[in-house]
Amino acid sequence: MARTLYVASTNPGKLRDFRLAAASHDLGILPLPGLRAIEPPAEDEPTFAGNAREKATYYSRFLPGEMVLSDDSGLEVDILDGAPGVRSARYAADAGFRVAETADANNNLFLLQELAGVDDHQRSARYQCVLAVAQEGKDLFAAQGTAEGRILAEPRGSGGFGYDPLFYLPALDRTMAEIDDQTRWTVSHRGKAFRALLAALLTMIG
Ligand code: IMP
Repeated sequence: MARTLYVASTNPGKLRDFRLAAASHDLGILPLPGLRAIEPPAEDEPTFAGNAREKATYYSRFLPGEMVLSDDSGLEVDILDGAPGVRSARYAADAGFRVAETADANNNLFLLQELAGVDDHQRSARYQCVLAVAQEGKDLFAAQGTAEGRILAEPRGSGGFGYDPLFYLPALDRTMAEIDDQTRWTVSHRGKAFRALLAALLTMIG
């Protein structure tokens, strides 16, 4: 039976990635109608899973009878005790750090400042992603994905977004910003979480 997942995200890159990955499973991916007009929820949970679930249950109330997918993701740096974590998008802004135009540029510069003088082998980090599906305000299921890497001392590459130019993948000897979209989907936290979510969903709907 063909089913549709409605994604509560305005990010066209995420929608495209989800759509391509779901296509071969007879699963449609569409943006949640009217999302831009909906007041967003607070997103103040201490974990990625908490935020993803909160968003999915909240947005699912706006489309009764349908399954709504939300995600939450971010970067955890070990020597910073897991920061920026759930505050990844607002890392520099939280600290009042603003030397560049964009949030991504400020976040990257602030991260480099926080890691100044830290040796390579102490710069381990991971991307985390949790995807949650809800229907009519009820949590249905969630899936998680992780990508392990290291934070470089200088950016490399121009692909991707966010912290990607600083996030080095030792197995590929590349940063997330130096690999093509297909490879990124294979190794990324979001790609892994989505494949796990698909497996759970296909089991549920048969
Ligand atoms: P969101 O959950 O997609 O809004 O991501 C939260 C923040 O985490 C983003 O603004 C980025 O700073 C960071 N982040 C999450 N996933 C990625 C990624 O795949 N690449 C780069 N940065 C990411």
